[in-house]
Amino acid sequence: MPPSSAFPWNPSSWRAFPSVQQPEWPDEAELEAVEKTLAEWPPLVFAGETRDLTTRLAEVADGKAFLLQAGDCAESFRDVSANSIREKLRVILQMAVVLTYSAGVPVVKVGRIAGQFAKPRSSATEMIDGVELPSFRGHIVNDDAFNELARIPDPQRLLGAYHQSAATLNLLRAFTKGGFADLSRVHSWNRDFVASSPTGQRYDEMALGIDRALQFMKACGVSTESNPDLHTVDLYTSHEALLLGYEEALTRVDSLSGEWYDCSAHMLWIGERTRQRDYAHVEFLRGVRNPVGVKLGPSATADDVVGLCDALNPDRLPGKLTLISRMGKHKIHSCLPPLLRAVRDAGHPVVWACDPMHGNTFTAPTGQKTRHFDDILAEIAGFFAAHADAGTWPGGVHVELTGDNVTECLGGGDEILDSHLAQRYESVCDPRLNSSQSLDLAFRTAELLRSGNSSWFN
Ligand code: TRP
Ligand code: MN
Repeated sequence: MPPSSAFPWNPSSWRAFPSVQQPEWPDEAELEAVEKTLAEWPPLVFAGETRDLTTRLAEVADGKAFLLQAGDCAESFRDVSANSIREKLRVILQMAVVLTYSAGVPVVKVGRIAGQFAKPRSSATEMIDGVELPSFRGHIVNDDAFNELARIPDPQRLLGAYHQSAATLNLLRAFTKGGFADLSRVHSWNRDFVASSPTGQRYDEMALGIDRALQFMKACGVSTESNPDLHTVDLYTSHEALLLGYEEALTRVDSLSGEWYDCSAHMLWIGERTRQRDYAHVEFLRGVRNPVGVKLGPSATADDVVGLCDALNPDRLPGKLTLISRMGKHKIHSCLPPLLRAVRDAGHPVVWACDPMHGNTFTAPTGQKTRHFDDILAEIAGFFAAHADAGTWPGGVHVELTGDNVTECLGGGDEILDSHLAQRYESVCDPRLNSSQSLDLAFRTAELLRSGNSSWFN
C-alpha cells in the first residue's frame, strides 16, 4: 500500500508514491547532481504572479472571464529563435483580442510555453521498419532522432530546458510589457500570409473597429502608451508537470506568504495518463499553491473527478483548479455531462476548459499524425452545448498551435488537404494549428460563446 495523500506534504513526498511515465535514466547519480544544481538556480517565475493568475482564474470559475491556454505541443531545443517565440506570442495575442472583442469578456492568457518540454507516451518503445527504440519523451529527456544514442535519456537536458525556459520567458516579458502587445498594434499582428485569407480579412475589419475606438479615446485624452491596461498584457506560462524531479528542484518557499510554489511556471497541469489518485503526480501538485490543471479523457468517471477535486483543492479555493476535458468530438456528448453535474453538485469551484485537440488525432492516409479543423470545432461546440445544458460556464479552451504557416492540421479557411501535409510538417510531437487556423478558431469560438446560453452573460 502506498502512503495516502492524508500524509503531510513536502516537495519530495511524491517519491514515496508510485509514478508512471518517468524516463529510465541510465545514471541516477548524474540525475541527482543535476537536480541539486537546479535547486540552487533562481526561480523562473515569482510567486506573486502566480497568485495573480489564481485570482484571474477565480474570475473564470465565476463565469466572468474566459481562459485561453495555447502554445506548442512540445517546445523544441532546435527552435529557440526570437522569431518563433514572437510568432507564437503574436497568434496568442490575436486570438485573445478576437475573443475579447467579439465575445466581450476578459480573456486570461496562458501559454503552453517556456517549459513545455516533457511528453508522456502511450508506449515505452517505438518501432520503425522493424527497428525498436525507446520512445521520444521530449527534448528535456532525449532527442527525437531515430537512433539508439539519441533516445538515451540524458539528465543534462534538464539544465538545457531550464535555460531555454528562462530565455523564452525573458523575451516574452520584454514583448508583453515593452510595447509589442500595445492595442494600437492590433493591425500589425496580422501576417501577410494570413491577411489575404477570409479570416485575415475578417481580422482586419475587427482591427479597424478597434483602431477607431482607440482614436476616439485618444481624442478624449486617453492614449494607449499612458495606460498600462492598453499598452501591456499579462501572459502567464504553463506546462505539463511530468518530470517530478525537475519540478521539485524548482519548488521554493515564497518569502512573503511562507507557502510552497513550483516556480518553473505559473500554472502546471497533470496529464490524462498521470492523474491516478494516490500516485506521485497528484501527490506533488496537491502541495504547491500554483493553479493546477488536470486533463480528463473519456475514461474519467464522476468519482475520479470529484476525488481529484478533493485531493487537489481540499480548501475549495476558486481559481486553484482547472479541469481540462479532452474527450474527442463524439464522446464529449456522453462523457462530459455526468462530470459537469458531479462537480457542480459537489460544489467545487473549478474552471472548465476544453482541449479539443488530443481526442481528435488520427493518422492520415499519407502516414502523418493529424487533426481536422472541423473536428476540433465540433468538440468545442459539444463542450459549449454540455455547459449550456448543465447551467455551468464553459470557461476556456486549451489548444496546440504555432505562429508559423505549417501544414499539420487539415481543413480551416485555407483548406489544408491530405496532399499538403508533407509541405511543411515540423512538429516534434502532435500536429498544431497554424496561424490562420488558430485565428479562425478564435472567431468561431467567440460566435459559439455569443450564441450560447443567455444566462452566461447575466
Ligand atoms: N491588457 C488588456 C488585456 O490583456 C488589453 C490588451 C492590451 C490586450 N493588449 C492586448 C488584449 C492584446 C488582447 C491582446 O486584456
Ligand atoms: Mn500534444
